[in-house]
Amino acid sequence: MTAIDSETQQLFEEFVVPSYGRYDVVLVRGEGSRVWDEDGKEYLDFGAGIAVSTLGHAHPRIIEALDRQARELIHTSNLYFTRPQAELARKLVGIVGSAGKVFFSNSGAEANETVIKLARKFGNECTGNAAGDKPRFEILTFHRSFHGRTMAGISATGQEKVKQGFAPLLAGFNHLPFNDLNAVEKAITGETVAILVEPVQGEGGIYPASREFLLGLRSICDRHGMLLMLDEIQCGLGRLGNWCGWKEIVEEDFVPDTVSWAKGIGGGFPLGATWIRKREIQRLAGGAIDLCDLLQPGSHGTTYGGTPLACATSLAVLNTIEGDGLLANARAQGDYAKQKLAAILGIKEVRGMGLMLGIELGGEFGALGASGKTPSQTVVTELMQNGLLTVPAGPSVIRWLPPLIVSREEIDEAVLILSRTLAAIVS
Ligand SMILES: Cc1ncc(COP(=O)(O)O)c(C=O)c1O
Repeated sequence: MTAIDSETQQLFEEFVVPSYGRYDVVLVRGEGSRVWDEDGKEYLDFGAGIAVSTLGHAHPRIIEALDRQARELIHTSNLYFTRPQAELARKLVGIVGSAGKVFFSNSGAEANETVIKLARKFGNECTGNAAGDKPRFEILTFHRSFHGRTMAGISATGQEKVKQGFAPLLAGFNHLPFNDLNAVEKAITGETVAILVEPVQGEGGIYPASREFLLGLRSICDRHGMLLMLDEIQCGLGRLGNWCGWKEIVEEDFVPDTVSWAKGIGGGFPLGATWIRKREIQRLAGGAIDLCDLLQPGSHGTTYGGTPLACATSLAVLNTIEGDGLLANARAQGDYAKQKLAAILGIKEVRGMGLMLGIELGGEFGALGASGKTPSQTVVTELMQNGLLTVPAGPSVIRWLPPLIVSREEIDEAVLILSRTLAAIVS
């Protein structure tokens, strides 16, 4: 399409803050794994709104839930009890499979903000520090990680590019090499209170944590009285073919202290959520409390978090994933895609699991960077022109994050577009 003279694009130019580098296309409609632009051109959507539209577009169960709940009650604030929030919390605790409670917010950055505040409160008010029960505040995170765009989020994130121009950052984060337990052991001081980690790093280029790394982090946190906080915002709730991303990597009896979710949780309706483990901790002031009860009234909140509309929609999404066997579909289609992608010329490596795949471009695409765009941005643009939406991750990785409803025929179609596009670029 020729979005350059599109009226929509002109309105953006005049009225929308230019904080995003957008592709030259105006999307107007979606159905299943496909979307259409304003000129009627069709695209296979293998970005799914960056790992969000788990049931694809215009799914009848989402439409039905939105319609039903909107007619009953859209919003109340958190001054009152509402049934959908209670039901969704119970569902999420069941998904983790260990006792705990859930705090609701509106986005991934806020879900992580919640765990960062929880760690601070735990460090300031609770014991567990071998170095002598002084307040602790430092959170360990990892190189290439991504934890959101708030000040706490960019401070936690292990990528320089998101921090530029925003000094001074929030103090109290130390970034370490990923999958390196020795580095973690060495970094712990009397001030370290928690570790925040993505079981599969998403924005950084699709790098899964190793089993040994996750088990080692759990053991380090246990030994030092620290919290192990998993950021499952991109890899959780089905994308890896498992409700819990970490369970694709480690055995079932591994229990984190917190889990952050957003993205796919609402199938496109904005929602963030944080699970906090029920685990007894001791207060410095004396007395025991469960970790999941540490955030008491007045300590944390948000007007919109967990509205009846968002929670009813999320319940419909999660129940559909369960009822329609979409975890098994994500795993089967992911395995199939991986095998097909491995045979394409020009691809150096395919990483990831389920429907969270990172396609690392070979060295021959390095020269594309000369245009000012990274090789991955250039290839993603070409793919879009050829009818396939994907997302770059880092300079040389293309992400495939299709809806969990994707079919084998749609994978075949996307593989064909990708192989033809790569061949045309290097010819
Ligand atoms: C792992 C991870 N954490 C946090 C975030 C931030 O989520 P949001 O954009 O909803 O604030 C993202 C978004 O890409 C993410 O992938």
